[in-house]
Amino acid sequence: MMKWTFVVCTLVLMVCLAGVSDTYAQFGNKVSDTPHNLQKATTSGMTLADYGEICVYCHTPHNNNINIEAPLWNRDEPTGPYNMYNSPTLDMTIANTAENVSLACLSCHDNTIALDQIINRPSSQLGTNPSGQTIETCATTCHVGANPVGGINFQGTNLGTDLQNDHPISIVYDPSKDPNFLPASNGKVGNLPLYGSNADRVECASCHNPHDNSNRPFLRMSNANSALCLTCHDI
Ligand code: HEC
Ligand code: HEC
Ligand code: HEC
Ligand code: HEC
Repeated sequence: MMKWTFVVCTLVLMVCLAGVSDTYAQFGNKVSDTPHNLQKATTSGMTLADYGEICVYCHTPHNNNINIEAPLWNRDEPTGPYNMYNSPTLDMTIANTAENVSLACLSCHDNTIALDQIINRPSSQLGTNPSGQTIETCATTCHVGANPVGGINFQGTNLGTDLQNDHPISIVYDPSKDPNFLPASNGKVGNLPLYGSNADRVECASCHNPHDNSNRPFLRMSNANSALCLTCHDI
């Protein structure tokens, strides 16, 4: 009796510990330990094509998409059309559609292109076709609220194509048009990068680093006491 109780308890403990380490492994500073490790997602309940690699869902060494401002990009350009942020107090110039590196993010986060829909599949890959699952699948069916317990709440990761309710992107960072902004220099505000051919646009990756989730959610720096916001806004 004692012996069986011990075995059962040990098994339960092992399962729990495995669950816990799995959850914590999503807040690392390496892509492999973040929710952007889609290869891992294939083994944890999602039916994505498993390409046996991590970077390949976003990058490829050859035949990449040169139209998107993200290096060696392995995904199609999302076509929107996007509704851009607008407000009566906006002073700087916003593009009429999403541009630059933001298109890389939106190729998954606007829910129009399947997560495993890539341009150049690994040559070693033996014929699994993309499943067609978009990001909304995870956001509404698997990871809602604290499900599983202690897990990440992925609600909100589908931004859709209506970006009117999102912080402005594809906007020229120009403090001369609004005194409540800190100066930019060499294509950066503080350590936050600006994008585009003139390195002057705020894009998704100005605030987010897609490889590093140690400042969740993928923030370039901690936003404790709104430090991220106050790197640009002098308010
Ligand atoms: C979920 C998508 C995604 C995955 C997975 C991913 N990357 Fe990236 N990567 C991006 C995006 C978007 C950019 C451009 C953003 C930027 O300028 O930081 C980028 C930029 C880069 C850059 C240039 C900028 C920099 O930070 O040095 C390198 C190098 C890079 N990735 C390597 C990798 C490698 C190696 C892997 C796999 C271990 C990987 N990435 C996985 C999305 C991804
Ligand atoms: C290959 C598809 C893909 C690309 C490209 C991609 N993401 Fe993601 N991202 C995901 C998935 C999948 C998740 C997990 C959420 C889910 O399953 O609903 C996620 C999660 C996130 C989260 C939430 C993380 C957390 O811990 O809560 C943020 C923030 C994020 N992504 C930002 C970005 C940004 C910014 C870019 C571009 C620089 C980007 N992503 C590019 C697929 C992608
Ligand atoms: C000006 C900075 C900034 C820009 C630009 C930005 N984000 Fe975020 N984003 C944040 C912050 C800060 C959070 C965390 C919000 C929180 O947890 O309170 C966040 C959260 C998220 C999340 C997690 C879900 C949520 O709603 O909290 C996703 C996914 C995401 N961003 C994707 C993107 C994508 C894709 C883009 C470009 C279309 C983008 N972000 C542009 C600052 C930014
Ligand atoms: C990389 C620089 C940058 C960061 C970081 C940043 N912003 Fe912004 N933000 C901008 C720019 C540029 C605008 C457009 C300002 C304009 O046109 O007047 C803007 C606009 C806004 C607006 C809308 C202003 C209007 O008149 O409609 C709000 C609100 C805002 N930001 C809040 C935030 C918050 C909250 C954070 C932190 C989560 C944040 N921002 C982080 C650059 C940034």
